[in-house]
Order: sequence, then structure tokens, then C-alpha cells
Amino acid sequence: MQTHTKISSSINENLDQFTLPTDWETDAIVNRREQYFAASQRAFVPYSTPLIFKRGQDQYLWDEKGNQYLDCLSQNLCISIGYNNPAVTAAVQKQAEQIQHCTTMFFHPVPAHFAEELTSKFPKGEEWVVHFMNSGAEAIDFALLLARAHTRNNDIVSLTNSYHGATFGAQSVTGISNFRHNVSLLNGVQFAANPDQYRGIHGEGVAPYLDDLDRTIHFGTPGKIAAMIVEPVQGYGGIIELPQGYLSAAFERTRAAGGLCIADEVQSGFGRTGEDYWAFTKHNVVPDIVVLAKGIGNGYPLGAVVVKRHIAEAMAKKFYFNTYGGNPVSCSAGRAVLSVIDQCQLIGNAKTVGAELLNVLRNLAKKYDVIGDVRGTGLMMAAELVKDKATKEPATEEMHRLFQLTREHGLVASKSGAYKNVLRICPPLCIQMEDVAFFEQALDASFAQM
Ligand SMILES: Cc1ncc(COP(=O)(O)O)c(C=O)c1O
Repeated sequence: MQTHTKISSSINENLDQFTLPTDWETDAIVNRREQYFAASQRAFVPYSTPLIFKRGQDQYLWDEKGNQYLDCLSQNLCISIGYNNPAVTAAVQKQAEQIQHCTTMFFHPVPAHFAEELTSKFPKGEEWVVHFMNSGAEAIDFALLLARAHTRNNDIVSLTNSYHGATFGAQSVTGISNFRHNVSLLNGVQFAANPDQYRGIHGEGVAPYLDDLDRTIHFGTPGKIAAMIVEPVQGYGGIIELPQGYLSAAFERTRAAGGLCIADEVQSGFGRTGEDYWAFTKHNVVPDIVVLAKGIGNGYPLGAVVVKRHIAEAMAKKFYFNTYGGNPVSCSAGRAVLSVIDQCQLIGNAKTVGAELLNVLRNLAKKYDVIGDVRGTGLMMAAELVKDKATKEPATEEMHRLFQLTREHGLVASKSGAYKNVLRICPPLCIQMEDVAFFEQALDASFAQM
């Protein structure tokens, strides 16, 4: 049989002719996007003027004019082990040269290897299996469907101030109005009060929030639920870590009501919190379903649901198929991510460098009254801006100004929280101690100018 068609031979001989040019002129980029992007894809931009990125290396970014930035956002936490990571690039190139896609209808070793390697990071004593998909929201939808299919219950409990994605299902369990559309979403979703120790409606402590959860289940559901879904550290909500004692007790209540425990580790997973691969471990719990995305592929489109085998069996006799799920190129990137995290000890790095960056934020909080709270763990941290430390009135306009200034001082961060008053700092896990001084100077100068 032929091994090359005439078409691919002629493409190979004239490759330049088949490579379409890219226009890097600033106005052209802006105008083309304005003309051809749908409003839904145009609207979400962080700065008042466009920021165009041309190149990334490790924890650094360069815009189209050659200005360098220290990246403290990691493309919304997708770039876990750094831009242009050589292990990822090599794995992806090698795989792309062999076969670019092979659906899970057929067999290919790479996704299965990756599933084995991924599940080895999960608590021992359980049999874990994986369903791969392409994004976080898709994985959340699947987790909700699976919980309903397995338990045969309908209701799902989520937390206020949560973000789980933009699809119908994921939006339905998202507890911030900015991220929900004014349409009919999934039924049977109830929200319990988020045990936010800085701004939570019941103040500090765990007990009042567990009471709130009890009331939510008792009065808002038939008493039986399909699942409770939580982010161990809320990301877009403004880096709100669950207090110790909450998750274990909340999961007990969930199980008592017949529900499954779902941990959304889309932001907090892959060592970001500097303790372990997963943020749930710190709470001494073992979820039934864990949702992964973002950092899993270091920028390649990949999401996964890791679930106890007997629960996943609920879907064995029913069709469910993601055409791109388990794509070997994305899974090759995922394998390289695990290998680099382990061999370069990036979880330890997240802990040590993260502690220094958090110190910088704490010192700035002593200097600038506008910082009401500093919090975080590993490379997932935040400074919350308030107009008044006593009333905690969100300093949203101040945050907007500060945010523009951080960009001018060469720092890319994120403005998050339900009131957009939280500076969220989540750099790639490869950030170095040598970057701390630049981080401090850029932030200090931004606060001073604000
Ligand atoms: C905690 C969390 N869950 C789920 C999602 C959805 O992921 P995706 O944007 O890949 O659909 C996000 C995205 O920001 C997230 O932060």
C-alpha cells in the first residue's frame, strides 16, 4: 500500500506556500478580532486597552512590541509548568508526527498510559478510572450527569461564590451572578453559604456554615441529593480556601443524604497549592469524583473526570462520547506535565516561592491600607482591596486602577472575586526566587501610584 499520497508529497516539497501568513501589526490584530469574533468571545478582556502576547518562555511573556512581563496568571492557570516547556514541546511534536487524533472508539496507548499515571496520584485504597474530555466545563457537566445517573437523585448542592464553568450545567452550579445568564439553567441546584472566613455571611468559624448546609439540604431539597460540588480553593471567587473541618463534615452530610462528593480541582490541582497534587488532601477527605482541567495539559485542550470505578459503571450501558476526549497529542502534553512536576519538584517549588510571594503581599498590606486581606497557599494567592478595613466595602474602582498599573509595571495578574476587587496571583509553578524582587518592586510601585 502507498505510504504517502501525491498531495502530502507536494505539500512537503512546497511547505512555505501552504503556511498562511500571520499579521502581527497591532491595529490589524485588534481590528480583525473586532470584525470576526462573536461578542461572546470578544467581551471578556481584562484591561482597558488590548494586551497582545507573542511569545512565552517559562514564567515570562512578551507582547508584540517586545515588552517583557512576569506572568502571575498562567493563562487562567492553564500554563502549569511554564511556557514552551521543552518536555511538553517534545512530547507534542513526537505525537503530532505520528497521529494527531485517534478517538476512544479505537485504541491508542497514550491516553491509557496517561490515565494510569494520573490515577497513581490519587489516594490509595480506591480503584480510580478516568474519562477524558476537552475542557473544565465539559468535565463538570459530565460529573453532574454521572452523579445523577449513579445516585438516581436529582438535587445538587453547590457553594455561593463558586465558579465551575460556562456551559449550561457548569453555569447552573456557579454561585456568582456575573457568570450566570438570565435563562433557564439546570433545575434542582441549591446553594449553601460559602464558609469564607473574611467575608462569609455567617462570619468566622465552621459550625454556622455546616448548619447552613444542613438547612439547604433539609429545606431546599427532598432530603436526598445527587451530589455536593466544591472547589477546595475558590478561584474566580477570589482565592477563598475552605477552612479546616468544613469539607470533611460537609462530605459526611452529603453522603448521609445519599449524594456523591465532587471536588473541582480545575484551578487548585496539579500541585498549585504547594502541598500535594490535589487541594482536597489537606482536608483529609477522599472525594468520589474529581474534576480536572487547565494545568493538566499546560495549555493543550484537556479535561478529565477521575472517579471511583464502581461509580463510573453507572454509565456503562448508556452512550456518552466526547469526539476529542483522550486526544493523544493533548494526553502526551499531560504525561509530560506529570513527569516535569515530579522530576523538577515543582510542588515543593510552589510551596517555597509561594511563601515568599505571600510575604510580599503581607508586607504590602502593612504599607497600604487599601489591602483588607491577604490569603492563599502555594502559588494560589490574593490580596483583597477594600475602601475601609472595618466595613470591608469592596474597592472595585481602586482595583481597576491598580490592575492597569500592574500591567504598566510588567506584571500580568488577574482581577477576580464577586466584586472584582481581588488581585489574584497564580504564576506558573516554575516561578523562581529570583522573580520575587521584581514582583515586589512592580506591585509596590503600582500601589504607590494608585
Ligand atoms: C474551578 C473551575 N472549574 C471549572 C472551570 C471551567 O473550565 P473551562 O474554562 O476549561 O471550561 C473553571 C474555569 O475557569 C474553573 O476555574
